Amino acid sequence: MRLRDLSPSAAILATLLAIPELGTAFYLPGVAPTSYKEGDKVPLHVNHLTAVGLQEDGTLRSVLSFDYYHPAFHFCHPEPKAEYVSESLGSILFGDRIMTSPFELNMHKNETCKKLCTSIYDVASAKWVNHKIAAGYALNWLVDGLPAGQLIEEEVTKARFYSQGFALGSVDQNSAHLNNHYDIFIDYHTVAPDSYRVVGVIVQPSSRHSQLDGNGEGVNGVNHCGFGRRPLTLDERGQTEVTFTYSVLWYESDTAWATRWDKYLHVFDPKIHWFSLVNSAIIVVFLVFTVVSILLRALRKDIARYNRLDNINLDDLSGTSAVDDGIQEDSGWKLVHGDVFRTPNSPLILSVFLGNGAQLFVMTGFTIAFALLGFLSPSNRGSLGTIMILLYTVLGFIGGYISARVYKSFGGERWKLNIGLTPLLVPGIVFGTFFLLNLFLWAKESSGAVPFTTMLVIIGIWFLISVPLSFAGSWVGFRQPPFTAPVRTNQIPRQIPPSTTYMRPIPSMLLVGILPFGAIFVELYFIMSSIWFSKVYYMFGFLFLCYGLMIMTCAAVTVLMVYFLLCSENYHWHWRAFMTAGASAFYVFLNALIYLITKLQLGGLAGTVLYIGYSALISFLFFILTGTIGFFASWAFVHKIYGSIKID
Ligand SMILES: *[C@@H]1O[C@H](CO)[C@@H](O)[C@H](O)[C@H]1NC(C)=O
Repeated sequence: MRLRDLSPSAAILATLLAIPELGTAFYLPGVAPTSYKEGDKVPLHVNHLTAVGLQEDGTLRSVLSFDYYHPAFHFCHPEPKAEYVSESLGSILFGDRIMTSPFELNMHKNETCKKLCTSIYDVASAKWVNHKIAAGYALNWLVDGLPAGQLIEEEVTKARFYSQGFALGSVDQNSAHLNNHYDIFIDYHTVAPDSYRVVGVIVQPSSRHSQLDGNGEGVNGVNHCGFGRRPLTLDERGQTEVTFTYSVLWYESDTAWATRWDKYLHVFDPKIHWFSLVNSAIIVVFLVFTVVSILLRALRKDIARYNRLDNINLDDLSGTSAVDDGIQEDSGWKLVHGDVFRTPNSPLILSVFLGNGAQLFVMTGFTIAFALLGFLSPSNRGSLGTIMILLYTVLGFIGGYISARVYKSFGGERWKLNIGLTPLLVPGIVFGTFFLLNLFLWAKESSGAVPFTTMLVIIGIWFLISVPLSFAGSWVGFRQPPFTAPVRTNQIPRQIPPSTTYMRPIPSMLLVGILPFGAIFVELYFIMSSIWFSKVYYMFGFLFLCYGLMIMTCAAVTVLMVYFLLCSENYHWHWRAFMTAGASAFYVFLNALIYLITKLQLGGLAGTVLYIGYSALISFLFFILTGTIGFFASWAFVHKIYGSIKID
């Protein structure tokens, strides 16, 4: 039923939008550029510190993030105190902690060697900072909303692009060096006389021992401030005094404001990405067509045979001769017509899952569509998270409606429980896990811990908006007539013959589940690196295509599995369809574990628990989503085939 949703024109549109050059579609009119006059103060805000895997081997050593003003870092505060910059809900949830800073940048004014402050590091702080340097932590600054990166040259293609964030320090053979001098290079674009815009920020941090004694001033621009002296190491046995300094250099640039993000949105070898996507698209389309054509042919034959048999039987009844009854005992899925619409086990839980799955399905679709249309600009931090929460909340109505209608069609009677569980069970599991993981972050003093007030806001939104909407949806759903089955259900359940190996639950789940996973595998890799390596994800064209492919695969393979199941005279298809399609979540989780082993080197229990916890949470939601797709595809299929045969 969902196969037709991805019309060719939509697919072509998606393909066009996926081309990086057309990335300008991301810039929303809502995110207005700021123009500065010469000498105007340009804000430099500081965000949390994250481990981003800037080291040579490219592994990630930690998933914890820390506040810039965590006392152990001893970074310089603005006077009188640093304040939070207001952020969107999605931005806070996804870990941003943006605060003001003491840096003074004046548009179009070069400055050399400005002193920020001097901090004293005690033994404990020195150990803490040295450990963070070794773990590859990076500072994340925002100048006029643009992340301050380091210029990185890709080895193979020699393409230059900006990383997000720059290193806290560096490590050589025996010691860690803290970067205490920052050369800030800012590209500006002149839009009119005395009107400038920030279009690029690079920070080159360096570690310098006592910049200010002796000859502080250097020669041409950069060579000042103790340049070329030995690097600074924090002493782990005594106190260390560290002076922080910075220089600001402004450079004219041709980059227009609208394209200033392009350097950050670097695609690692887009050809490989394209190739693998086209590859999997061809495989998926081929697979789906094969499944559909095999099924259609088999079904047409079956239906023709069944209906022919029916006619013979009718003739027999009018005649007197006793043709043996054996001919009526035909084989195949028709045999279970009296049981196939029998209510499954635990109809309550199934309908609750299906309601939530439908909610997730629509939410994901809308989110990707919004992103495709350019509503989620990377300069609008956290817009992805905010829009997802907003959509999920509003779509509570759909969740309630689907859950109620399905439950009513199953002939369920505990409707109060159904109405109550739909908005509480799945979100409750998600929120509960989230809360537990947050406790870990709190214990580790990580800034990733969602603040208590944000938690309250989320609970408020959940109970004040989402739950009532879901109730309203359930109310409407229960007032609608139930879906009626095309055939009557017998009083007495049929015996189910023993099944062959590959039709047993576990093997069939493992076999079927790998295919939808295959459709999204490549994209999943990019999504994971954007989550864990804090890279900007923006390839929503690819994602849209992948989502379509995943839906198609999920529907096609589950329907095929249900067909085989019914042919083997097993009519317990409801849960089976849900579980087999949902089994792809098992592979998503497995993939996350493999990623953990190959790409991450999380020393410490907390990081590993967090990583596994979040992966399990995402896999659970994915399970509900794919399970629902598989179920409704099978539901439509079963209704269709039993509707097209005549039963006495
Ligand atoms: C700042 O200094 C750099 C390097 O010396 C120079 O290229 C640039 O034009 C200067 N910018 C301004 C606004 O003076």
